[in-house]
Amino acid sequence: IIPLTVVAQCCLAQKDPVGDAYVVDAGTTETTNFGAKINNTDSLTVGRRGPTLLEDFQLREKIMHFDHERIPERVVHARGVGAHGYFQPYQDWSNITAAKFLQDPGVKTPTFVRFSTVLGSRGSPDTVRDVRGFATRFYTGEGNFDLVGNVIAPFFIQDAIKFPDLIHAGKPEPDKEVPQAGTAHCTSYDFFAEHTESIHTVLWALSGRGLVKSFRQVEGFGVHTFRFINEEGKTVFVKFHWKPLQGLSNLVWDEAQKIAGKDIDYHRNDLYTAIEKGDYPEYELGVQIVKPEDEDSFDFDLLDSTKIIPESIVPVTKLGKMTLNRNVENYFSETEQVTFHLGHVVRGITFTDDPLLQGRLFSYLDTQINRMNSANFLQLPINKPLVPVHNNQRDGYMQRNVYKGKVAYFPNKLQDNTPAMANNKTDGYLEYPEHLNANKQRGKGGKFSDHYSQAQLFYNSLTTPEQQQLVDAARFELGKCADNDVHKRMVEVFNRVDNNLAVRVAYALGVPEPKPVSKNEKKTSKGLSIENYPKPNHI
Ligand code: HEM
Repeated sequence: IIPLTVVAQCCLAQKDPVGDAYVVDAGTTETTNFGAKINNTDSLTVGRRGPTLLEDFQLREKIMHFDHERIPERVVHARGVGAHGYFQPYQDWSNITAAKFLQDPGVKTPTFVRFSTVLGSRGSPDTVRDVRGFATRFYTGEGNFDLVGNVIAPFFIQDAIKFPDLIHAGKPEPDKEVPQAGTAHCTSYDFFAEHTESIHTVLWALSGRGLVKSFRQVEGFGVHTFRFINEEGKTVFVKFHWKPLQGLSNLVWDEAQKIAGKDIDYHRNDLYTAIEKGDYPEYELGVQIVKPEDEDSFDFDLLDSTKIIPESIVPVTKLGKMTLNRNVENYFSETEQVTFHLGHVVRGITFTDDPLLQGRLFSYLDTQINRMNSANFLQLPINKPLVPVHNNQRDGYMQRNVYKGKVAYFPNKLQDNTPAMANNKTDGYLEYPEHLNANKQRGKGGKFSDHYSQAQLFYNSLTTPEQQQLVDAARFELGKCADNDVHKRMVEVFNRVDNNLAVRVAYALGVPEPKPVSKNEKKTSKGLSIENYPKPNHI
């Protein structure tokens, strides 16, 4: 048995993901895909001016391949930019997690990061107002760990079942497919006015956080609460953070608009150029750690992704640092074909019952089977783990492995090389044996019903110019929507956060300026509450 740290070291030394071993660059003469040397500039015709012959296999192959060059873009986060790097922990974190890549400061774990906007299509401008993705793959000695996060700490909704509605409201309006990018939609604000749980994240998006200046200067957030488990089976709750060593920065709206007109690839160019000239961006990975006994001690629910844990209550413990030091060789093979998935986890890191997280666990693999048109996309160089893959899965479109032997099932006595089951006491994946005992039901209630406290906290944390920036953003975004009813309903939501904010937005939109609401009213959710749901089933 080779120790895992040695695996990580050996593999890193030999090849990075999509390193030279995979680069197709053989020979100097042009060939067909089946290897015949060809003259690829003229089609085969009858005489100099006659019709083209169906026989022309060179023409047919070349055009056929071109016709099939596009794959569906991601249903969200379609526009992205990727870079390779490596991660090193600052010390041994085996006290909190069994994850080996967090234990030896001497081991560099290769990483691949994809930054993205969420709503725009693949060709949309970089600088629009949006939440942005910050997805990181760690190619660890125990398999791939994907931290699929965003640059904004909370999320719009509490439950995955609302995600299709959220995205349908934010994507181009279906009748005329306008607007193509950004958040200036009637439909978005109609949705937000009905889903008051969104207001905390809406305020983040309307602040400078929605107008990133450079991907080198963004924070990243895992958003959900996860669990670490150590070798003794002890668990802690964690929230993941990336902190950029380049500092934080954002554009102002005028800049963002002008740049979108002059250079729609602004963020791509910025990251690519910095790495090309050796100015490698660095990000510290940290976690906020909560002991199991403190799970219920907050005035919000740890399983509610519309809430953050304020860093003033639980500071971020820095675990290590990632450096991005290599650009991709080929955008399609790497940035486009990478398939991040929340369910790519390693021993020592596992999930909680956050209902948004649980739904995401279904979504990524499902959508990628559609996007990649095969169940074998993890065999692609950018997706393949560094460690050997050994199981009884077989066949399917684009299977590229040659499996020896007649047996593809477990257990069997016919063949020696059948994969053995992992031992989760030593190196297998560790599930946390959470005890669950409750009735099946829909609807949450409790602390999930407080939609406003953290929105108020966020708004009050802004400086006066930052608040002005947010007010201007709300005026602009809602100003793009001609529906007066949407304006009024959003002003009502803003009013539960802060009367001054609501009055300033109302004034610009020409709708009645609201009176302040009482403290209690401020906390109450306007949207669906547990009382609206049928009584739970007893089983
Ligand atoms: C991408 C679904 C919430 C971060 C995607 C994709 C889907 C999806 C279908 C496209 C994946 C692909 O084609 O490869 C969902 C669902 C959610 C949800 C159903 C909620 C129920 C979130 C949240 C975050 C997030 C809360 C941040 C914490 C990302 C990122 C990507 C992505 C960063 C782009 C990954 C890449 O660069 O390839 N999501 N998502 N998503 N999602 Fe989510």
